[in-house]
Amino acid sequence: MIRFAIKTDSSTLAKLHYDTLTTSFLAGLGLDFLGKLYTFLILKEKVWIYEENNEIKGFVSYSENSAGMMKRFLINCPSCIILLALRIIVKPVNFKRFIETFRAPFKSKKTREAKDSFCLPSGELLSISVNPNCQASGIGSQLIKALEEYLKQNQIYTYKVVAGKELVSANKFYLKNGFVFATQIKIHSETLSNVYIKEI
Ligand SMILES: CC(C)(COP(=O)(O)OP(=O)(O)OC[C@H]1O[C@@H](n2cnc3c(N)ncnc32)[C@H](O)[C@@H]1OP(=O)(O)O)[C@@H](O)C(=O)NCCC(=O)NCCS
Repeated sequence: MIRFAIKTDSSTLAKLHYDTLTTSFLAGLGLDFLGKLYTFLILKEKVWIYEENNEIKGFVSYSENSAGMMKRFLINCPSCIILLALRIIVKPVNFKRFIETFRAPFKSKKTREAKDSFCLPSGELLSISVNPNCQASGIGSQLIKALEEYLKQNQIYTYKVVAGKELVSANKFYLKNGFVFATQIKIHSETLSNVYIKEI
C-alpha cells in the first residue's frame, strides 16, 4: 500500500536513503542529519511510502519549489546547521560539497541549450529509494504513479528529476517511466548529472 509518510517514518526513510543513495553528499552527513531532513520533508514537502506487512519498502519525496528547499530546511532546523558545521570542521571539503548541493536546484531551474535559455519546471522529485531486496519488482514505478496522481489532482502537469549520470539503473528507471532527457548540469565539479522532465 502507498500512503503519505508520517513523522515517525523519518528514521526508516533516513536509513533507506543512507543504504541506497550511497554516493549522495547528504548520505555522507550521516543518519542523524538525514533523519532531520526527512522529518522536514514529511512535514513541509511531500513524501509517499510503499508499505507491505508493516514494513516500509520504498519512498519518494517531492518539492513543489525545490530551489528554496535546502534554505527552508536549514531555517527550520537550527540543530542541523550545527551538525553541518561539525561535519565541515571534521572534513573541510564538505563545505564545497554543501554549497554545490545547496545550489543544485537553482542550476536545474534554468538551463541553456542551443543558445535558447528555457525554464525547467519548479516541481522536482527529490529522492526515490526502494529496499535493495525489493528492487526491480515495480515498487518504484508505483511510487511514481502515486506522486503523479497527486500532481494531477493539484493541476501540476510537469515536473523534473536530477540523476547522476553514473547511476545507470536510476537513469534507466526514469526513461522507462516516461521521463525525457532535458539537459546536463554539473552539481559537483567532478560529476555530471542528467536532468529529466516528465509531462503527465
Ligand atoms: C531506482 C529505483 C528507485 C527504482 O525502483 P524499482 O522498484 O527498483 O524499479 P521498478 O521495478 O519500478 O522499475 C524497474 C526498472 O528500473 C530500472 N532498474 C531498477 N533497478 C535496476 C537495477 N538494479 N539494474 C538495472 N536497472 C534497474 C530498469 O529500467 C527496470 O526496468 P526493466 O526491468 O524493464 O529493465 C531503485 O532501484 C532504487 O532504489 N535504486 C537505488 C536508489 C537510486 O538510485 N535512486 C534514484 C536516485 S536519482
